[in-house]
This record gives sequence, structure tokens and C-alpha cells, in this order.
Amino acid sequence: MAKYYDEQTIRDIESRVDIVDLIGESVSLTRKGNRYWGLCPFHGEKTASFCVSRDRQMYYCFGCHEGGNVYSFLMKTQGIGFPEALKILAQRAGVKLPETAPAHRNREKEELLRLHQAAAGYYQGLLKSVQGKHARLYLQQRSITEESIEKFGLGYANENWSGLCDWLMKKGFSQSALEKSGLARKSEKNGNIFDLLRNRIIFPIYQYDQAVIAFGGRTMEKDVQPKYLNSPETPIFSKRKNLYGLSWARNSMREQSVVFLVEGYMDCLKMSQAGIQNVVASLGTAFTSEQASLLHRYVERVVLLYDGDDAGQRETLRASGLLQQEGLGVDILTLPNDMDPDEFVTAYGSKGLYDFLKENRQSIISFKLGQWLKNHEGRPALEEKSQLIRGLRTDFQRLPGEMERDYHIELLAMKLGIPENLVRRELKAEKTFSNKPKKTNKTSQKWNNNTENYTLTERVVAAMLLNPVWFEQISSQVGLEIFTNEQDRLLLKMVAKERQQEPAFDLKDLQFRALQDGLENRLARLQMIIETKWTADQILIDDFIARVKKLQERSKWRRLLKEIQQMDEKGTNSDGIKKLLFQINQVFHAERKEEEK
Ligand code: UTP
Ligand code: MN
Repeated sequence: MAKYYDEQTIRDIESRVDIVDLIGESVSLTRKGNRYWGLCPFHGEKTASFCVSRDRQMYYCFGCHEGGNVYSFLMKTQGIGFPEALKILAQRAGVKLPETAPAHRNREKEELLRLHQAAAGYYQGLLKSVQGKHARLYLQQRSITEESIEKFGLGYANENWSGLCDWLMKKGFSQSALEKSGLARKSEKNGNIFDLLRNRIIFPIYQYDQAVIAFGGRTMEKDVQPKYLNSPETPIFSKRKNLYGLSWARNSMREQSVVFLVEGYMDCLKMSQAGIQNVVASLGTAFTSEQASLLHRYVERVVLLYDGDDAGQRETLRASGLLQQEGLGVDILTLPNDMDPDEFVTAYGSKGLYDFLKENRQSIISFKLGQWLKNHEGRPALEEKSQLIRGLRTDFQRLPGEMERDYHIELLAMKLGIPENLVRRELKAEKTFSNKPKKTNKTSQKWNNNTENYTLTERVVAAMLLNPVWFEQISSQVGLEIFTNEQDRLLLKMVAKERQQEPAFDLKDLQFRALQDGLENRLARLQMIIETKWTADQILIDDFIARVKKLQERSKWRRLLKEIQQMDEKGTNSDGIKKLLFQINQVFHAERKEEEK
């Protein structure tokens, strides 16, 4: 790999690309703690041993030992060289490289993305124009601020049958691209193309990285059906796999590790306007397992805030099941009077919303109990109550601790008007009656738990990479040659050399060097040790040094003895023996001094 790449640019690009997002596009990843796991794309496997660390910006497979960073991932999965990987990532990161990028691999998607971006601009321009007056008024009536219009990129499609098509064609997009985007339709009568969205408020649907991938259009009239008209499935858009609002919410989601999930565009927008950043909307369809796993990239908990009507409550139950299967924690909020979040904000303001969110969170168990009570008015039979409790066993198993368990047992006892020990018995009965505990979490089922076994030496090497002081202790006291793994030795020498020239040299710099020398797999493994904080500590390092020294002494003795033997075989030489005795003396001396320390 030539040296003419500017390393600053390389690092800059790397820091702007989220490795979890990048890899997540081709590997289905599940979050566990601060790591993401999936089936390794480099070798066939049924249990996940492929691990991605966002903190370290690295991936590593504990099965086949492939590892590296965003660059090596693209290089290895797409079979391309570094320059090409650099170009792809630069484009993704919005960083301009000196030379212009040549033909891209995925022309079709590229073109569709550009087309959507242009279309968004077209709609936004119309909303601001004279023609958009009526639309602006509509938004005003729904209390949407100028700021929100900007932030969410809202636009307006006028009544012109082919306004967008004409405009895009003028911009140089082909008719076939227009048809592929789903934004243009072909007339069956005359074969002409016309716009999908007309006379509607436009909600661009953004991918997590702010690229526009689809549109939703809301009619401004009461009796027009459908109320919302959305882009169809296209090469760049699948509504099963996307969530509205993700691009604005994801930072806050990561920070708080929790997200509010709502049903509608408007709900998402209004909550965000009210100051709640971590909110996304399922795109008006039934919530999917793909969406659950998308959420799991960012959060550990989801608060369901669906419409208060019956349909909303039914969908709440379904979505909560999918979320739990994904291994996410779930809480539920039920809005009063069949309201949706948008209407709630309009009625009670942001303060009202804050208070409501804070005070009315319900656990799944409590929600299911509430639903059950609604459907069992009067005096339900004891058997029915038992049935309910038995149905809640899986939910009880998912509770994080004894306290939560006790709380919910008390709650059930109280609301059902039965003694607590009856609740406990129904919950416990499973162990005696049913054959096996239910599969509670599909991800933990397919987990490969024996992945992380590191040797002491590996932990020491990782510690040396991490901490210059430890590096110095070991290299000065026992040297680097003692490391028998050649790659470790090479990496350590690389660090020694770099730190000499540049004391502020850190592991990020090392990643690029390692990639150049084909050491990225090994480095990735060592980085995983650093991330789990299983690197050796001072005690282990002292111990390691002492043990290595003892071994070194022993081999010194072995060498001396061998020399005596050889001398014996050759016939005695008094000078030689004197020299030997002197050396032996020195070793003794050194050992005594070592013991005195
Ligand atoms: P709602 O009917 O609850 O609409 O549909 P809403 O979000 O409250 O919208 P407003 O307040 O009336 O403007 C929830 C979501 O279902 C999808 C949309 O994503 C909508 O936000 N939907 C609904 C459609 O895609 N098409 C429709 O015709 C209706
Ligand atoms: Mn609404």
C-alpha cells in the first residue's frame, strides 16, 4: 500500500463512518451490552461469533479470527483494494478526496439516492413558494413550527400532474430512473408518466444517515383517500426495514439507551417539537422484527406509545412481543381518550407530555393485566385468573430482579383480589408441570458463549498496546523477543517505533499501519480484549515479568551447563573454566539482587 494517502484524512473518514451502521447493512447485528453480534460474513456459522465494537470501531470474529476496521471490512467483503474502499467511505462520510471518484459499484442505488435528494429539494421549494401558501397554512393549523419544517425537510406537492417528473427530467434523470423510484407512474392509457404525489404535504423519509430514501404525502383535505400516500418498495426503500425519524433520534437514543416508538409521522414530529428527541415512528404498517433489530442497534429499551384506540392497543401487544423476542426491554404508555401523541401534545402542551411520559409508564405485565381486566368485567372465575397468571410466566422470567418480581406479584394479587401466595404458586407451577422452560430470547439462544478465551500473554500484549508505562516496563525488563507470536512481536515493535517518533501515537493510528502490514486480524483481537477491560493489570504484569525472568534465568543456567559439558568433552582448559566460574558467579549475584528487591 503506497504511502501517499494522507493519514489524517483516512482517520477523519473513519471517525465519521459508524462501523455498526456500515456492517449492519450486510450483517444482521444484535446488541449485547456495548457490543454487536452476528453471523460471521467470512465463514459459515450458525451461532454468532462475529463481534463489532462501536467504541473501538473494529470487528472481530472469534471463530475464524478475521478482524479489522471499516476499511478492511469493505476490502474483504467486496474484494476491493484500499483506494477503492477509501473512496466509498469518503463518499459516505461526505469527505472530499483530492481525486474524483470513478465509476461506483452500485450505480442504480446511487442514482436513486440522488434523485430522491433532488425531489426533496423540489417539494421543499414548492412549500416555500407562492403556490405553497395553502400548505403552509395547513401546517400552521396543525401547530408545526418553521423550525420543524426545516428540520424534517417538509415539502409540498402541487396539483400539477407531472410537475416532479418534468423537473427531474430537466435535471437529467432518466425516465427509467423515475419509474424505479416509484415517484412516477405510467399511465395505462397513453404511456405517459405522471407524479405519484399530488396536492399533498410531503414528509421525506430519511435513512439513518440523512439520505432521503422515500416520501410520504398527506392530503390536506378531509375526504381524500388514502390519507397518506407513501413511496412503494424500491431498491433503496423497504418499509419493513426502516423507521421514520431515526436519523434525528439516533444520537439521543444512544445516549439514553431508550426510545419512544409511535405510529405516525405526525406523532414523531410533534414529540420531537415538544423536546423529546429519542422518538421514531413505525411507518404506518405492522411493526416488524427487522425494525426491532434496527432499534436494538441503538437502545436496550423501547417505550411503546401507540394510539389509544383499540387498534393501537392490539398493535401494542404484537409489537411488544417482537421487541421482547429481540431481547429489548419494553414499557408501555397508554394515552387517554383514544388520543394519539400528536393530539395529546396539542391538548396538553410539552409540559403535559413530559409529565405524562414520566408518570404513566407501565410494564408489560401491568399492561396485560389492564387489558385483561377490561375484558373481564364482573367477577371472573378463579380458573380464569390462574390462566392469566400462567400466561404471564414468560414476562415474569424477563424481569430483571427480585424486587420487580415482588412488586408485580403484589400488583396481581391486589388487582385480582387473590392472595399473593396463589400468584406465586401459579407462576412456579411451570417447573413441575411443563417439560421445559420456554425460549425467552431468541438471540441468547443462538449465542456462542465460549468465544472469549484469552491467554495471559494476549492480555499482556493488549495491556502494552493500551498503556505506554506497561509497555516500557516489559520491554526494558524482559524485551520484546520473548513474545512467541510473530504478529504480536511485529505489532509491539511497530508501536515502539511509532511512540519513539510521536509520543502521542495512539491505537487509532496503529489500525492503519496494521492494515498495511496485514496485521489487522490480530490487532482486532487485541482490541477486543482492551474493550472488555480484560487487559492485564499491574499485578498480572509484575507476575508476568517475574515468571519470564525466571524462565530466562533457567535457560541461562541451561546454556552454562551445556558449555561445561562441551568443555568436558573437549578436555579441560583452565582458562575457560575460570571464565565460566566468573559467569556463574555473576548469575548468582544477579539472582540474589533480584530477590532482595
Ligand atoms: P394515523 O391514521 O394514525 O395518522 O396513521 P396520523 O399519524 O395520526 O396522521 P394525522 O395526524 O391524521 O395527520 C398512522 C400512520 O400510518 C400511516 C402513516 O405513516 C401514518 O403516520 N398511514 C396512515 C398510511 O401510510 N396511510 C394512510 O392512509 C394512513
Ligand atoms: Mn394524528
